[in-house]
Amino acid sequence: MIKVAVFDTKAYDSRYLPEFAEKHDLSLTYFDAKLDESTVSLAAGYDAVCVFVNDTVNKNVIESLYNQGVRLIALRCAGFNNVDLSAAFGKIHVVRVPSYSPNAVAEHTIALLLTSIRRIHKAYNRTRDFNFSLNGLTGFDLNGKTCGVIGTGKIGKIFINICRGFGMNVLAYDPYPDKSSDIEYVSLDELFEKSDIISLHCPLTEQTSHIINNESISKMKKGVVIINTSRGALIDSEALIAGIKERKIGAACLDVYEEESDLFFEDRSGHIMNDDTLARLISMPNVLITSHQAFLTEEALRNIAETTAENISSFFRNGETPNEICYRCGKGNTCQKNREQKCF
Ligand code: NAI
Repeated sequence: MIKVAVFDTKAYDSRYLPEFAEKHDLSLTYFDAKLDESTVSLAAGYDAVCVFVNDTVNKNVIESLYNQGVRLIALRCAGFNNVDLSAAFGKIHVVRVPSYSPNAVAEHTIALLLTSIRRIHKAYNRTRDFNFSLNGLTGFDLNGKTCGVIGTGKIGKIFINICRGFGMNVLAYDPYPDKSSDIEYVSLDELFEKSDIISLHCPLTEQTSHIINNESISKMKKGVVIINTSRGALIDSEALIAGIKERKIGAACLDVYEEESDLFFEDRSGHIMNDDTLARLISMPNVLITSHQAFLTEEALRNIAETTAENISSFFRNGETPNEICYRCGKGNTCQKNREQKCF
């Protein structure tokens, strides 16, 4: 039986994983702890580790996993910015769940936008207190506004369709535009200059890190709403705070935060908040934060469990890695995956 150590497990992870583990004859052990240098020894004796967005899979962790005999890192998410792929190459194969419910994330994105601009979160709290005043709750229509979408992959495209349903004009930026679509692509600068709302749907890479910074904010319209349901480090949080304090940014809707790894997914109520930047953001009336929740639907959890179990089973039983990621993939003839089933 294939033995898998599942790190950073929450109740909702173990909801669907057992069903698909049984189907593929996998033996799963659930650990509450995140994978990092201090917990990697827990993986001794396992064939694979299963990790999520805030586990630390750096060079040292990969070395230790390899030395302990682990041969597969199965991400139960799409993003893989927390894995040192070049350190893993030649040692441990890395697989992910490329798509589990782009609808879940796109729908959460519009939920954040509507909640923020129509002040639903404030109205909810008021009416629970029998406060039926409307003062301070004035919003604005989405119809006719321009939404700039950065990244037009699976999630970005669904979000664009939702925006169009609201009668919004959509501008998009993507270095790899979908030429077969009717999406209006513009330069990043033009997107910054013309958008009333900007939503981030690109991966976190060297190119996109802090794509929202002091300079880009200076190009934006006054009152712009910024939404980030992708990865926290796409936004320079200090620049965001400065933009909000200058009244340049009208609102920010954040499902991710650049320093989220020790905070999000955990109940920190009753603790002193050590992260002053996050505390400042939370204190602002026009900032709405959810804690990396956009993926969290029944449909997505089921798909994650199904693909993760299939990924692990097919690697160990058939030697195939359909959802493998590696830093050499796509680089012409250095990419072995075109010739063989695996990257190395
Ligand atoms: P995808 O791979 O289908 O699309 C990403 C798009 O970004 C591609 O079209 C790509 O060409 C584009 N892109 C790459 N570099 C870019 C750049 N420099 N500037 C602008 N666009 C660029 O990915 P998908 O499924 O749409 O997911 C997007 C992101 O959403 C993921 O990378 C992940 O970080 C995030 N995500 C967040 C979740 C959450 O719960 N908050 C859940 C799932 C994904």
